[in-house]
Amino acid sequence: MEYGNSQPTPSSGASALVTQRLTKNFGGLRALDGVSIDVAKGSITLVIGPNGSGKTTLINVVTGFLSADDGKVVFEGRDITNKPPHEIFQMGVVRTFQNPHPLKKLAVLENLLIAEPGYGESVLQSFTRRWIDKEERLVKKAFDILNFLGIEHLWDEQAMNLSGGQLRLLEIGRALMCDAKLIIMDEPIAGVAPALSHSILKKLKELTKSGISFLIVEHRLDIILDYVDWVYVMANGRIVAEGKSDEILKNPKVIEVYLGAQG
Ligand SMILES: Nc1ncnc2c1ncn2[C@@H]1O[C@H](COP(=O)(O)OP(=O)(O)OP(=O)(O)O)[C@@H](O)[C@H]1O
Ligand SMILES: [Mg+2]
Repeated sequence: MEYGNSQPTPSSGASALVTQRLTKNFGGLRALDGVSIDVAKGSITLVIGPNGSGKTTLINVVTGFLSADDGKVVFEGRDITNKPPHEIFQMGVVRTFQNPHPLKKLAVLENLLIAEPGYGESVLQSFTRRWIDKEERLVKKAFDILNFLGIEHLWDEQAMNLSGGQLRLLEIGRALMCDAKLIIMDEPIAGVAPALSHSILKKLKELTKSGISFLIVEHRLDIILDYVDWVYVMANGRIVAEGKSDEILKNPKVIEVYLGAQG
């Protein structure tokens, strides 16, 4: 696959991910209270909201890290509600974390190779021709991804020597290595300098042209809003507003929840 060079997918109106009235309780606290969202295929969909509004909980429930108490999660038309995380991952739903945790002593290339689900699976086959072919194919794939992300020069650098922004790029690379169809990111540009943040977001935008979809939680609205197709606003476990990025901050409901959160 040529990363980022594919033709735009025609906007068929198809959904990558749909949640229907998702509910999650922590004891007496209702962290998700009937959350329904729709992530269009090939879109960047953003979820914003004050601290504690339920954004990370939503990601955890969608990816199977937490079970839902009620409601549904549907990925590409298939019900994945409360399936175990590895099954959801195998279907192409890959999440990146607020604090990336690659294997720090391994080189960038190795971190990409081990992300591929079949890698190293067949120790018994080692050094057979088939295994070597596969190894070559995966290394080629890893370098295509590194080239696309603009970090190919770092291929033999230990992950612990990367900057915060470069680590985010490595995380995206690892998701691409697994052929992710929907990439879910919790605060991908938190702590990343503005220039690098913009270049990361441009890469994501290019990937949408290959039909990859993104569900992103992020607080840095000044930087991210230009890149997203649709925004949901959460407060107290509910979706309180949704809209296009250039309109959402004018919505009185959104101003209210952010002002309310400051008090
Ligand atoms: N494992 C848990 N057990 C108990 N309560 C939790 C748990 N995880 C989250 N909560 C609570 O659920 C609510 C929603 O938390 P969540 O982490 O989803 O918010 P968030 O929108 O991601 O906030 P932030 O912007 O600060 O990351 C908060 O009140 C939080 O304290
Ligand atoms: Mg969070």
